[in-house]
Amino acid sequence: MIPEFCTFTTLKLFSMILGVPKETKIKENRVALTPDVVKDLVKKGFEVVIESGAGLNSFYNDENYTTVGAKIADKSTVYSTADVLIKVNAPVADEITKMKKDAILMSFMWAATSPELVDACCKAGITAFSMDAVPRISRAQKMDALSSQANLGGYKAVMLAADTIGKILPMMTTAAGTIRPCKVVIFGAGVAGLQAIATAKRLGAVVEVSDIRPETKEQVQSLGGKFIEMKGDDSIKMEGGYVKGVSEEFLKKQQELVSKHVKDADIVITTALIPGKKAPLLVTEEMVKSMRFGSVIVDMAVEQGGNVVGSELNKTVQKHGVTIIGEGNLPSLLPMNASDLYAKNMATLLLHLADKDAFKWEMDEDITKGSLIVHKGIAVHPSVVKVVPA
Ligand code: NAI
Repeated sequence: MIPEFCTFTTLKLFSMILGVPKETKIKENRVALTPDVVKDLVKKGFEVVIESGAGLNSFYNDENYTTVGAKIADKSTVYSTADVLIKVNAPVADEITKMKKDAILMSFMWAATSPELVDACCKAGITAFSMDAVPRISRAQKMDALSSQANLGGYKAVMLAADTIGKILPMMTTAAGTIRPCKVVIFGAGVAGLQAIATAKRLGAVVEVSDIRPETKEQVQSLGGKFIEMKGDDSIKMEGGYVKGVSEEFLKKQQELVSKHVKDADIVITTALIPGKKAPLLVTEEMVKSMRFGSVIVDMAVEQGGNVVGSELNKTVQKHGVTIIGEGNLPSLLPMNASDLYAKNMATLLLHLADKDAFKWEMDEDITKGSLIVHKGIAVHPSVVKVVPA
């Protein structure tokens, strides 16, 4: 049977079809395009096909999409008709084989650490752009899904901790006595960490922060946080504003310095990441043991191996009287905002790369070059050409 939207397709022969399937990853509530963004893309001449129910966990129903001009279809139709398949998380290999040969995938890919995914894209002969590979340059800020999602994750980490700890965060003077403010220690002052600082401060906590990039000191202080000063050393390798690696000795010194801050903390939030590598281990078992009974840790790096000994992916565990929250996908817990921002990032990247008729293929342009992982079945991104066999 010919799906209903195909009749519509034949009327606009040259428009590209954007397909949005429902996310299949466990605990994923986000959807890659939201109705507001779909409305704009339809106005610009794209056809949009959404899998039935794809937006429900972000509180958008099928009618919200059809009202703005999208078509609703089943999963296999979305995969087999999309010229551009738009997702939050990358499809699994099985789903990739259902895509059209010349189709284009746009999603998070984490390509450097996902050789099987890159391989599956190559075998299927498709093209793939990765949202996490969009270069972090000023003119790409509106496409920066890493930042839009990390920012929400930092906020939610504080909310989870505040909801779990058996205390209030601000100082409060009452007739029965004065309540001291909670002390929150945050590791890592990148996008997530800075939002966690701002959120904890807004709730009235005292906030202390450790990062190994010296320039973060001023950013932390401007948000009202206290910076835990640590002398850098030659073993800290930086590249493009990111930490590329630190030595074991440095991490040991850092642990010694921060351990007394952790001991006094009510809440610890860890956000420290090293792109393409396992997250650095910052909170040891001894440090967890030293914390007060009832304290709370949120390990935001748990998907990348964790900053905290004992944290478990997608679980909340009790260790030595401390609750350790290992929620792996914090932005997904705020799906309304997270989907809205992701969809805007996605549409901005798409409109940078293409119009309704075709992709521009400006191969020397920074954003195209930075985010293109596989081109017509060939792995082209510098981070993957080495890991995928030719
Ligand atoms: P990230 O998520 O990769 O890492 C989080 C933080 O962990 C970083 O601040 C890092 O320095 C810190 N960290 C690593 N090892 C640590 C350790 N042992 N102890 C304590 N902290 C440790 O970082 P994110 O949030 O993705 O941002 C990283 C960089 O990208 C920053 O320089 C930021 O300014 C830059 N950026 C630039 C943008 C743009 O120009 N459009 C947009 C967003 C970020």
